[in-house]
Amino acid sequence: MEKRLLSGIKPTGDIHIGNYFGAMKQFLEYQEKYESFIFVADYHALNQEKNPKKIQKNTLEIIKAYLAIGLNPKKVYLFKQSDVPQVTELCWILNCITPIGILQRAHAYKNAIAKGLPVNMGLFDYPILMAADILIYDSDIVPVGQDQKQHIEIAQDVAEKFNKIFGKTFKIPKGLIKKDVATIKGLDGRKMSKSYNNVIGLFDSEKEIKEKVMKIVTDSKKANEPKDPQKCNIFYFHKLFTPQKELKEIEKRYKEGKISYKESKEILAQNINKFLKPIREKKRELDKNEKYVKEILKKGAKIACEVAQKKINEVKKKIGVNF
Ligand code: ADP
Ligand code: TRP
Repeated sequence: MEKRLLSGIKPTGDIHIGNYFGAMKQFLEYQEKYESFIFVADYHALNQEKNPKKIQKNTLEIIKAYLAIGLNPKKVYLFKQSDVPQVTELCWILNCITPIGILQRAHAYKNAIAKGLPVNMGLFDYPILMAADILIYDSDIVPVGQDQKQHIEIAQDVAEKFNKIFGKTFKIPKGLIKKDVATIKGLDGRKMSKSYNNVIGLFDSEKEIKEKVMKIVTDSKKANEPKDPQKCNIFYFHKLFTPQKELKEIEKRYKEGKISYKESKEILAQNINKFLKPIREKKRELDKNEKYVKEILKKGAKIACEVAQKKINEVKKKIGVNF
């Protein structure tokens, strides 16, 4: 049987190149090799986002992003988490075998507590809903960024615990975290994140990219001074967007003091725009055809529900509520 890949993104803000390099690019690379279930984690987003219009808009944006980068809807199942109610059903069952200590150690919860922020049950239970997402489809691999590592480990622990109590039921999933892109930095050098306002958006306009790149902070070395490319925030992004041959030349010019930060930024903005142009164009087409996007979601949900229903039936038998 074809192995399964599963992953999701929350509709909480603009999709960015951290999401792309950390996770989405892997969805693309593996779409032919794995049977892929790629969704929008709208119930996870409800923790942060209480504006229904924004949830709806961001959900469609993520689906469009999946399609715009080149995921093939004939090969990949694209859907919304909330269209698969079996996942929340499984979440409850998994809650009943999960010691709260596991969740008290989860980073997102610990950080919220440390900052004195209010915590709802949804945030506390976030990792178990994610475990349900992963386990219900018997997923083999889960491509994500480094920030999701702990969540994958929790899903593995919960699966093992369930299997131990009720007999082998769940596959133990593997995280796929690509080392060199595990945490993409933002424009300010911190982790790129929707919440830090430091992102290069996948759908940013040419002008926005140029403005953002021009604002990247550097030291004050002059054009003719040698510079260490590895310590330069601009060069960091060159490594993601600039073709290998040009990259080598720029690296050489940095070391020899033959490039100004301004010129380096101009080249970078051009290269980012070259990369984003076809994605932007595809997105514009999809904006005109939301009906098509919604149909894809519907088809994806149908398959996801079929797979999920089989698993939930098996689980309900194991725990003794189906007989
Ligand atoms: P954000 O952190 O911006 O809120 P999400 O939590 O929705 O984004 O993340 C969606 C996917 O993108 C996850 O697999 C996550 O690990 C990955 N991801 C998010 N930010 C980065 C980043 N800066 N570098 C690498 N991967 C990232
Ligand atoms: N928690 C993930 C994030 O913040 C989103 C997500 C929800 C997910 N369920 C998942 C990712 C299942 C992979 C597998 O990015």
